[in-house]
Amino acid sequence: MEWIVEDRGEVEVWTIAGEARRNTFSLAMLAGLLVELERAAARKALRCVVITGQGQKAFCAGADLKERATMTVEQVHQFLRDLRAALRGIERSPKVFVAAVNGAALGGGCELALACDLRIASSSAELGLPEVGLGIIPGAGGTQRLPRAIGVARAKDLILTGRRISGEEAAQLGLVSRAVAPERLLPEALAYAEQVARNAPISLRQAKRAVDEGFVLPMEAALDLENQMYQDCLGTRDRVEALRAFAEKRKPVFTGE
Ligand code: COA
Repeated sequence: MEWIVEDRGEVEVWTIAGEARRNTFSLAMLAGLLVELERAAARKALRCVVITGQGQKAFCAGADLKERATMTVEQVHQFLRDLRAALRGIERSPKVFVAAVNGAALGGGCELALACDLRIASSSAELGLPEVGLGIIPGAGGTQRLPRAIGVARAKDLILTGRRISGEEAAQLGLVSRAVAPERLLPEALAYAEQVARNAPISLRQAKRAVDEGFVLPMEAALDLENQMYQDCLGTRDRVEALRAFAEKRKPVFTGE
């Protein structure tokens, strides 16, 4: 079993279950991720997913370098295609993803965290893109998502040195929203996810798209996109429910319709 899924209603916790090999991205782990993404997209009640790694040592130590050594070049190409699709799947998912970075998030592990919408780290976590030291470059979006997240200068600092940074430094750079003591990571990540999950599901989906897709557009087109995403919220029952709840001084009950 490569992933352990804990169903907490509107929130699920997905744990990479490969502690002995530091939760690496193996073929089986990647296949499991693709299956969970498809399942999650179809589960209407689900609003937010927390991704974390088993144990204290690693969130995900990147590609499984032992398995990689046994793979042909064609198999590596296929693996990368699937990995890119999985990370794009997280980004394009109607659900919100929170990475709870509990330990080493290196290479593909860091790229997995970068594909998530929100990131929180243990102060003792270790993040980095060490690929240039391995004769390759980040191959699952790292060179594109890192500069979008923290800016070109900071991204080049990390990518061209390949250095590993602590959860604390990641928070200072804006790579994660905040760093917390290791024992606080999961409770804080769950509280974060629940704070997201209490909002209107269609609004979450539309806001995520407006930010992600609008960011790479010229301003006029980006504002048009925002307007389109906004319009799609106007006809929803949840918008009417929010207005009614406000008038009745109660919390809204959203259904995602
Ligand atoms: N691929 C395959 N196996 C890995 C691995 C990887 N990327 N990272 C760790 N492992 C394995 C180790 O080989 C070791 O296996 P063994 O017990 O059979 O010897 C086991 O996981 C534990 O690793 P260890 O280094 O002893 O654990 P640690 O907790 O001291 O350190 C890391 C954890 C992740 C910081 C360290 O293993 C590391 O730096 N790994 C390489 C990360 C990397 O370069 N990833 C590729 C990016 S492209």
